Amino acid sequence: MINPRAFNNKEGVLEFFQSKGILVSPGALESIMEKGMGSLVTRLLSPEIISSGYISEGDVIKLIRGDIAPDKEIKEINFDDIRTGSSIDDFQKLFRSRYDKLKKIILMSSKIRSASDIKNAKRSGGYVKIVGMVTDISETKNGHKRLILEDLDESIEAIIMKDNPVKKELILNDEVIGVMGSVSTTGKSPAIFVKEIIRPDIPDRAIQSTGKEPIYVASISDIHVGSKTFLKDGFRKMISWINSSDEDAQRLKYLILSGDVVDGIGVYPGQDKDLEYLNPIDQYSILSDYLREIPEDVHVYVMPGNHDTVRLAEPQPLFSNAVRGLFPKNIKFLPNPYSLTLEDKKVMIYHGMSLNDMVELVPGANFESIGGAIEAILQRRHLSPVYGGKTPIIPSDTDYHVIEEVPDIFITGHIHSHYVGNYKGVRYVNSSTWQSQTDYQKMMNFAPDPCIMTMFDLNSASIINKKFI
Ligand SMILES: [Fe+2]
Ligand SMILES: [Fe+2]
Repeated sequence: MINPRAFNNKEGVLEFFQSKGILVSPGALESIMEKGMGSLVTRLLSPEIISSGYISEGDVIKLIRGDIAPDKEIKEINFDDIRTGSSIDDFQKLFRSRYDKLKKIILMSSKIRSASDIKNAKRSGGYVKIVGMVTDISETKNGHKRLILEDLDESIEAIIMKDNPVKKELILNDEVIGVMGSVSTTGKSPAIFVKEIIRPDIPDRAIQSTGKEPIYVASISDIHVGSKTFLKDGFRKMISWINSSDEDAQRLKYLILSGDVVDGIGVYPGQDKDLEYLNPIDQYSILSDYLREIPEDVHVYVMPGNHDTVRLAEPQPLFSNAVRGLFPKNIKFLPNPYSLTLEDKKVMIYHGMSLNDMVELVPGANFESIGGAIEAILQRRHLSPVYGGKTPIIPSDTDYHVIEEVPDIFITGHIHSHYVGNYKGVRYVNSSTWQSQTDYQKMMNFAPDPCIMTMFDLNSASIINKKFI
């Protein structure tokens, strides 16, 4: 799970680099702190930086974009069709894409169907429907909630009165919402008094049974091969069960590994002492040896996570050719996030870095009970609703984190707990890990729930959780 935030103050970061004889420019320091990621700090220790003895702001930006690789040989970036950049213009394109896609989804709701743009709503006054991105949230002196909503060319203040039940709803920065209410033009500038808000959300529906024999897609995550805490025995047991004559094992057709498949290197400070294998190529080779034992007619899909050797910023590309070449033919590789269609069912897979952000924002959510955070993601139809937290995202023309199509199954990982739920007919899982409690988790008082494979029947609503301990 969870990047240790050992470097959560400037002094700590400066001291760390000082001890390695490296100077950090003020701009670089700001960028590191802005991203708030401990892992970024150790990943900056590339051979180029060590030999130059200096970290510039550009180095940090390049790292977030994935251009600096601690191990050049295996961190060959495969951008595929993902066009990326990092100028202000690129960020604007990303937010415009997010707004356009989510507006389209919101307008499919029977309540709102059509909306005015903010400019017209301000001019017309009276009862209006608008769609806006939340760019600021505050509370007025009198206890009302005040939002700033923006569309592509205007912004407006939106007031949710303290006695309106909507005020209790969780509203997040950067989310796109539909708002219905009355525009008052009496104040200094027009404001909308909110009556109701409309989220893109998931339309309610039942899971259909086809009446056919079960076909299972199984989900496992966070294997962390290469770590001393990788649970080899449990993993072996799972593979021998897949090879057994058990009826459910025979019906397993797809297996999904949703990221952090190896422990990687340089992901957090002092990781070396937790590793059994220090070379990522060795780690992937060992994983490949395990996966070779899975029958060839099982389709295996492997996605990267924040421990894998691709760039940290999402969307994460496929593994490099060097890594892919280590695996047998029936293993397919996915970027993170990705939506697969299996037997006519949409299976959306996301490693889950944003769950670290969501768990802090969603009341009642915690690492043991991550369902509330997963459902908050589905309600907002966005895999990382708040921009700029602990989830680095690369700007591009298209926002790949918008949940454009309603999935039948939503698979996440990263947290190392195990949680299965159903939100309006979308079955979801936070997939279990194959790593026992790490020192960091002990320190955080978090106990993982390891070695569980979750199997979804693609022909009915049935789910099987099999524990291999
Ligand atoms: Fe993990
Ligand atoms: Fe992770």
